[in-house]
Amino acid sequence: METEFGTVAGWTAEAVRALGPEHAVPAGCRGSGSEGALRWLADALDLRAGARVLDSGAGVGGPAGWLAAERGVRPVCAEPMVDAVRASATLFGLPSVVALSQSLPLADSTFDAAWCLGVLCTTEEKAALLAELHRVLVPGGRLGLLVFVADEPLPPPLPEGNSFPSSAEVDALLAGAGFTVAARAEADLSDSSAQWQERADAVDAEVQRRHGEDPRWAQAQEQSGRVGALLGSGALRPRLLSAVRD
Ligand SMILES: C[S@@+](CC[C@H](N)C(=O)[O-])C[C@H]1O[C@@H](n2cnc3c(N)ncnc32)[C@H](O)[C@@H]1O
Repeated sequence: METEFGTVAGWTAEAVRALGPEHAVPAGCRGSGSEGALRWLADALDLRAGARVLDSGAGVGGPAGWLAAERGVRPVCAEPMVDAVRASATLFGLPSVVALSQSLPLADSTFDAAWCLGVLCTTEEKAALLAELHRVLVPGGRLGLLVFVADEPLPPPLPEGNSFPSSAEVDALLAGAGFTVAARAEADLSDSSAQWQERADAVDAEVQRRHGEDPRWAQAQEQSGRVGALLGSGALRPRLLSAVRD
């Protein structure tokens, strides 16, 4: 994961700087690259201008950058990979901190809303992650999740470092952490505009041009290819949820 979410994050920021800032959001959505999913979540979080919002596991910062541009908020980004944190700070000018979602250096009850996109499935410490989000949200605060769920055993080859929960596990984890699910939907991760896709592809091509010979590029491609194949077969399903903190 260090390669996929750290090294490639730095390479992505470098390619965006070369191609232009309009590429930042499409290229910076790693795993949540769908305008429809972001819009569904932002609507579900019922954000007003000036709301205090946390993006936990923010990656390169594309979703937070999208939120800032579309909804008039200035999200705080928390993310464990230093290269990704540097990318979200430099590409989007957002306040960004190096932190695991289950150990946030943030005060209690300081956010009106938080989202966590494609992150619950990258850690075994799911209960601790949700407990920490509960701690930093105000009572009645809203949580948005994009989770890749597997309701049956997955066929190999499996991506390394992932721990995909079942739908029932997600519901039980949320209830156990003190959240009430308000809405849920299946995400269509291929619903972005042609322009969005072209810009994301252009950044990938630029990264490949610069670093295609580096074995870490092939390694990262292999990982994302495995997730793509599981999504394509329907064995893995992208789920959107919004929940209210008790
Ligand atoms: C699939 S990417 C999604 C990134 C971003 N949320 C997006 O949608 O573009 C998963 C991210 O979760 C981060 N991550 C992995 N384990 C984490 C943890 N325990 N706490 C917070 N973030 C974590 C990874 O470094 C990576 O940036």
